[in-house]
Amino acid sequence: GDIAAMRSRLLAWYDREGRTLPWRIRPEERAAGRAADPYAVWLSEIMLQQTTVPHAAPYYAKFLSLWPTVHDLANAPREDVMAAWAGLGYYARARNLHACAQAVSRGLAGVFPSDLEGLRALPGIGEYTAHAIRAAAFNLPASVVDANVERVITRIFRIEAPLPSAKPQIRKAAAMLADPDRPGDYAQAIMDLGAVICTPRAPSCGSCPWESHCAARVAGDQERYPVKAAK
Ligand code: ADE
Repeated sequence: GDIAAMRSRLLAWYDREGRTLPWRIRPEERAAGRAADPYAVWLSEIMLQQTTVPHAAPYYAKFLSLWPTVHDLANAPREDVMAAWAGLGYYARARNLHACAQAVSRGLAGVFPSDLEGLRALPGIGEYTAHAIRAAAFNLPASVVDANVERVITRIFRIEAPLPSAKPQIRKAAAMLADPDRPGDYAQAIMDLGAVICTPRAPSCGSCPWESHCAARVAGDQERYPVKAAK
């Protein structure tokens, strides 16, 4: 049906055109046996919470080279972690990062939880980040909904409710579309679709794997979505 076609079109697009990012395992690398490191995934997601991909990338590489495992980061002096974070901003994230590394290293024997409740109990991990880690680190079903995904979903379904009240409807639609067989790749793919194709202004609909499924494209009013609440 339509949903099966949407999943396979999005994933085929991602396999061809998805961004190669330092924290990502490409499908061909996974086929060759390379698995995601939950510690590295967690580090990337904390950095990406309020920082763009190009700005976060060198910090991600620096942290992994200074502290290759969660135990290394946990045992680092707080001031070294804060100094390495300098330039990323939102310094509460760095304090939470260190506290989370210590909780995982000392309380959980270095093993990141894969369940939402266990993840959310850790410092600095909220709803969005818990879902993102579940998908990217463990390839488990998750509902990863960032601003990019909100834009894609509100356009596909022409959701007229404004943000933020549309969020539950968006989350439901996003969860319904998610691919149960490749949840990790699917989550990365829909984020890329929003970042690369389904941009806020002048989206590249001619290159979109979901062009024929998009109600806003059919109506020609893509830039109306997501609808913002009147001030
Ligand atoms: N923003 C948040 N998580 C991301 C990811 N894994 N890849 C790209 N952008 C992101």
